[in-house]
Amino acid sequence: MMTRLVVAPGIVHWPGYLAPDEQAALVADLREVARLAPFFQPRMPKTGTPFSVRMTNCGALGWVSDEAGYRYQPLHPASGAPWPPMPAVLARAWKDLAAYPHPPQACLVNFYEASAKMGLHQDRDEQDFDAPVVSLSLGDTAVFRIGGTQRGAKTMSLKLASGDALLFGGEARLAYHGIDRILAGSSALLPQGGRINLTLRRVTKP
Ligand code: SIN
Ligand code: FE2
Repeated sequence: MMTRLVVAPGIVHWPGYLAPDEQAALVADLREVARLAPFFQPRMPKTGTPFSVRMTNCGALGWVSDEAGYRYQPLHPASGAPWPPMPAVLARAWKDLAAYPHPPQACLVNFYEASAKMGLHQDRDEQDFDAPVVSLSLGDTAVFRIGGTQRGAKTMSLKLASGDALLFGGEARLAYHGIDRILAGSSALLPQGGRINLTLRRVTKP
């Protein structure tokens, strides 16, 4: 029986949602995604400061960031090719967990090396906040931080390990969240170490 932890209203954590063999199969799927849509280094709007994570996407739309701003687009920013399709296991995870009747349109793939972090931010480049954000973690455990919908509200931290799923939706859909640090060496899933996070999102209103 799958453990479902309601961390706070609108925030749900399923530790070990993906079994070890499913995690390994998903890593193989993501190698193919990365072959077709190579990881790129996103940059902060205006300043052009590079992020410490590298990104790619799969699905109809991908999230990108550079001097021109944050946005979703159907094409890879470097190659101009469409994003590869989402692996079937991701559509299944959304169906299982999202409690939302329409499919996800975007899957952002973030790769964190041991020193990477992600500052507190809101996911708000989507037109549809009725759909939740569903995330899956692979590889090294991350110390994830999530708070309220106002910057400066109280935050809590939780560890996201390989195979875990996390959802934020409803009153937590616009909660500030980020990654404080990666616990290097905590998983053997990725031979070179590091962490992959997949974020499934609905972008447009159905
Ligand atoms: C994100 O907010 O884009 C990523 C969160 C995570 O890596 O778990
Ligand atoms: Fe986010």
